[in-house]
Amino acid sequence: MRKDLIAGNWKMNATHLDAIQMVQKLSYRLDVADHDRVDVVVCPPFTALRSAQTVIEADHLRLILGAQDCHYEESGAYTGEISPGMLAKLSVSYVIVGHSERRQICGEQDSDVNRKVKAVIAHDMTPILCVGETEAERDEGHTADRVASQVRLGLAGVAAAPVASIVVAYEPIWAIGTGRTADPDDAAEVISLIRTTIGEHWGDAANTIRILYGGSVNPGNIASFMAKPDIDGALVGGASLDPDTFASVVRYWM
Ligand code: 13P
Repeated sequence: MRKDLIAGNWKMNATHLDAIQMVQKLSYRLDVADHDRVDVVVCPPFTALRSAQTVIEADHLRLILGAQDCHYEESGAYTGEISPGMLAKLSVSYVIVGHSERRQICGEQDSDVNRKVKAVIAHDMTPILCVGETEAERDEGHTADRVASQVRLGLAGVAAAPVASIVVAYEPIWAIGTGRTADPDDAAEVISLIRTTIGEHWGDAANTIRILYGGSVNPGNIASFMAKPDIDGALVGGASLDPDTFASVVRYWM
């Protein structure tokens, strides 16, 4: 059985002071049964991680801390970058890797993403590997090729044991921040293809790896994605910034 996972990617939003309030408000709205059913991850910007960690630990919250990116090197002359070891020290459990905004805006290549995945795993954290096609790729019928290749290249050289417990997020780029969600049937089809690709290369890891959908998820549409057996959760952007809204996404069955 794969436990549901719903992660909020705050992107470049929230100061460390905002983060304290957001984490506290979210936790008030969730109860033990919610946490038993769903792993709830919050991914604030780097500058808010320490504040979020402090609140989570001091109040014994069951929220799980994630980061939005990291560098693949451990230390050195990489001005502006944050290493996986720095994140691990902040009790970060999940690290988003290869988000389409980093691929598109920062020029990250699959080879960079692969190095980051390995660095995150080496620090006993869990990568959330993001994959997804552009609108043009979809229109030209290249969705399957594109996504399968991002999975293969992103996880190249990673052993089956760690692959079994990582997370992949399928985020069609045309659905991110646009209010245009993928059709749940289409998303489930691509996610099933991702699972098949994992099975071909990493065997039984396909049964345990969790695969999320992301792209304009909100309280009104989350249930239709979660109804698909292959979809194990969601990576949520805009709707994760308001704790009430995000709590409604987490409690999608209510
Ligand atoms: P939105 O939910 O705002 O579309 O963002 C999705 C996303 O990119 C999450 O990583």
